[in-house]
Amino acid sequence: MKTLTTLIIAVVIALLGIVSYAYSGLYDVSASSPHSGVLDWLLSTTSHASIERRASEIEVPELDNDDLVLAGINDFNSMCTGCHGAPGKDPEAMGQGLNPPAPDLAEEAAELTPAELFWVTKNGIRMTGMPAWGATHDDESIWPLVAFMTRLPGLDAPAYQELLASAEGKGHHAPDAAGEQHSYCDDEVSTGAELHGHEDGTEHVHEEAAEPEVAPEHDHSTHEH
Ligand code: HEC
Repeated sequence: MKTLTTLIIAVVIALLGIVSYAYSGLYDVSASSPHSGVLDWLLSTTSHASIERRASEIEVPELDNDDLVLAGINDFNSMCTGCHGAPGKDPEAMGQGLNPPAPDLAEEAAELTPAELFWVTKNGIRMTGMPAWGATHDDESIWPLVAFMTRLPGLDAPAYQELLASAEGKGHHAPDAAGEQHSYCDDEVSTGAELHGHEDGTEHVHEEAAEPEVAPEHDHSTHEH
């Protein structure tokens, strides 16, 4: 009985300690300071195990398909390189300030199975900068990215540029007629690969996007200062 009481008191003190630490402001949340070694190990081990477990149930379609890869490189170039970079291309300013950093997928993609690449791209990784692209993209729009990522580790900078040039017009991020490249899915979708069809008749989320509401003219003259 005495041991149980001591144990309960110890747990309560530990919990109070954790709560006081949370409120104290002592923990440094800045992205400019790295995690401690132990926390880093705990987070990355938890993350890898979680990805492996969830990806094991995914059925992977045939990805050795040039059309899919070409659609994938265009989408990858618009959606992913800002954070991850690409062969011969550094991440943009946004990507350079991330903590944890976005890994160079030309190296890291080889460490993941296609099912894992798909799961991460679709679901993102909580509390890191990795977004859940599945929030705005259906599975058919994500598989081309995966098909491309399986080829990415073999590409050097000239090969990446060559493949990108031959992918003109493919993928839903292909530059439009005016040559403008749209990033982060802010525009109309054009299908580029077979898997990116909408055979089931459902409309793609992008096409459903409502007309942007025009904000009423802001009239400063009526404001009282
Ligand atoms: C806003 C920044 C950002 C963008 C844009 C982004 N990512 Fe990430 N991504 C990250 C970060 C940060 C991580 C590392 C997360 C971690 O350490 O657990 C990551 C991790 C990943 C991983 C896991 C790598 C590994 O070794 O475990 C994959 C795969 C991935 N991203 C694919 C993509 C794809 C594909 C796209 C584009 C569709 C994309 N990412 C766009 C920030 C980004």
